[in-house]
Amino acid sequence: MPEVISIINLKGGVGKTTITIALGEIMAFNYDLKVLIIDLDPQTNATVALIGEDSWVKRNIRGQTLMQLFRDKIENTNIFSAEEAIIKNVSNVGGGINALDLLPSSLDLIDLQDLIITIPVSRFLPLKPVTVLAEALVNHLAHYDIVLIDCPPNLGLITQNGLIISQHYLIPVIPDILSTYGIPQIVSRISRLSDSTGIRINPLGVVANKFRKQNIHHSNQINLLKLRESEGGYRRFFNTIIPETARAAAAMDYTVKCMNLHQKYGYEIPYAAYTALTEEVLQNVQD
Ligand SMILES: Nc1ncnc2c1ncn2[C@@H]1O[C@H](COP(=O)(O)OP(=O)(O)OP(=O)(O)O)[C@@H](O)[C@H]1O
Ligand SMILES: [Mg+2]
Repeated sequence: MPEVISIINLKGGVGKTTITIALGEIMAFNYDLKVLIIDLDPQTNATVALIGEDSWVKRNIRGQTLMQLFRDKIENTNIFSAEEAIIKNVSNVGGGINALDLLPSSLDLIDLQDLIITIPVSRFLPLKPVTVLAEALVNHLAHYDIVLIDCPPNLGLITQNGLIISQHYLIPVIPDILSTYGIPQIVSRISRLSDSTGIRINPLGVVANKFRKQNIHHSNQINLLKLRESEGGYRRFFNTIIPETARAAAAMDYTVKCMNLHQKYGYEIPYAAYTALTEEVLQNVQD
């Protein structure tokens, strides 16, 4: 079975999606790993960055997104097929990266998400409809070495559906007070979910993103995150620090076609940071 990693923070805009995509692309392209990215976020950013808007619109109309999976459960229909919804060889690099697949999201999930609570509970887990995704992917996960889940900035039922198929979670933060503030809540809420389901979901660590060298607050916050590594419950602070760069921001534009990862991420920044983070993540999931 694959190593499944949720990329999560309650704070928006810290780089969850950008990091998920870079990790997925590098794991598939440089390491020949078979990778599935699951876009659990109704904002649909990872989906649009990996397949473009036109392709998303077509798939959305055909019910080939996670929205249809949850709608089926709410309306008692049976339209969603993981087989059809999973898109093979995605990314704007090399016309699609071999072995990088995507389970796409949908903006229409925004309207649907409040109704998820009405889904009848599974007989396997207590109280909440958190097994919808697990049940849909039961015959698919084994095809992959790594599954990366791009979570929305909350710990609602959709996110919990991703967490309970994960063995690990990774917390990207901007190294400032507000972005790091919620880390204890994430750790304790996921620990409670873990206890209530009996599923082990371990913190992989915290990674700093959008670091600005000139910003003394960023450096101070990084020192604090390193210091609190043991007592903070998040297991480790990653050595790799991802700088704020225009290139990282531009990398989310699917319409810019790239021949290889260097054309997308450069040779040094942010490429070197993303590859170093990938190396650290791969080392630590095997611990
Ligand atoms: N290292 C970076 N340098 C500069 N810009 C970045 C970097 N990482 C991410 N960004 C930009 O910051 C914004 C937020 O990033 P991203 O969408 O990855 O965050 P997120 O945590 O997924 O947000 P949300 O919570 O809304 O899903 C985007 O415009 C992205 O292009
Ligand atoms: Mg995002």
